[in-house]
Amino acid sequence: MISRTLSVAPMMGWTDRHARYFLRLISRHTLLYTEMVNTGAMLNNKQTIGDQRRFLAFHEMEHPLALQLGGSDPAALAECAMMAEDAGFDEVNLNVGCPSDRVKSGHFGACLMAEPDLVADCVTAMKAKVSIPVTVKCRIGIDEMEGYQPLLRFVEKVQQGGCDAFIVHARKAWLQGVSPKQNREIPPLMYEYVHRLKQEKPSLTIIINGGIKDMAVIQDQLKHVDGVMIGREAYYNPYLLAAVDRELYGDTQAPVKTRQQIVEELYDYIDEQLASGVALHAITRHILGLYQGCNGAKAWRRHLSENGTKPGADIRVIETALQFVAD
Ligand SMILES: Cc1cc2nc3c(=O)[nH]c(=O)nc-3n(C[C@H](O)[C@H](O)[C@H](O)COP(=O)(O)O)c2cc1C
Repeated sequence: MISRTLSVAPMMGWTDRHARYFLRLISRHTLLYTEMVNTGAMLNNKQTIGDQRRFLAFHEMEHPLALQLGGSDPAALAECAMMAEDAGFDEVNLNVGCPSDRVKSGHFGACLMAEPDLVADCVTAMKAKVSIPVTVKCRIGIDEMEGYQPLLRFVEKVQQGGCDAFIVHARKAWLQGVSPKQNREIPPLMYEYVHRLKQEKPSLTIIINGGIKDMAVIQDQLKHVDGVMIGREAYYNPYLLAAVDRELYGDTQAPVKTRQQIVEELYDYIDEQLASGVALHAITRHILGLYQGCNGAKAWRRHLSENGTKPGADIRVIETALQFVAD
């Protein structure tokens, strides 16, 4: 069984396979999520098999790993869930939180908060086809949904569909006039709704998400819910994960690596990827935040950004960048 004590959020454009490999070097146990993949892109006949493989590609090291799907057609979601299970993912998650116009016009993401019956049908269809857990990532509400009751009604209905865990981004989303970025900042965080959900429905697995940035807050949240999901902070400050295997998972054998060790452990992977045609920057862009808060962090970021994109850039760029920083 996978542990959901701590997870890193699905983040489009950010949590690609390179970012996940890097994060895995920092924490062995944290559950990782892919970027959202929509069912249309996965199933579209015009896509080549190669494209399908690309959506489902990951390194064995990345486990435990969840695939996040975007969609609202139960049959399509069920088929994609099967593909996820066949590819070896540990969980499949449905996105009911993304407020972007593109996603809304495709009839998936946060707009589905208004259609709990449909979400329940989606979950039931996926559950019927796979034995890995099927989870839902949602908001506390959208638009005019006010207060705690709409969240409770949504969760109760989707639970009946067989949902194994709810990840609740503890702010509502405005589907009109507010950008996705603003929708991660403007609506106020209402952690108390998520705590109340766990209190009133103790048999449900409830994960809290939104604005959580340090270990003390994670520890505190874990008194109220089953798990914590971290998004932006895990990307801007990935070293936050360095002690979680010991402190949250009780893995006393887990090494707390230095930042430099983590970078050096990435070298073999980078060499492999460069040899297969991946550009250095596709990997180094995810490690810019590693020295966040350390002396030389700015020079580290600048050196990697300016040189990682040059033709022929390789490990030497990182070796030089390391000379600017101290753990
Ligand atoms: C760049 C970016 C891309 C995101 N893409 C997704 C996505 O594909 N699926 C999803 O459910 N949430 C997505 N989110 C939302 C995050 O998963 C998370 O819910 C949100 O950032 C709040 O958590 P945080 O305050 O810890 O960052 C994205 C967030 C960011 C910053």
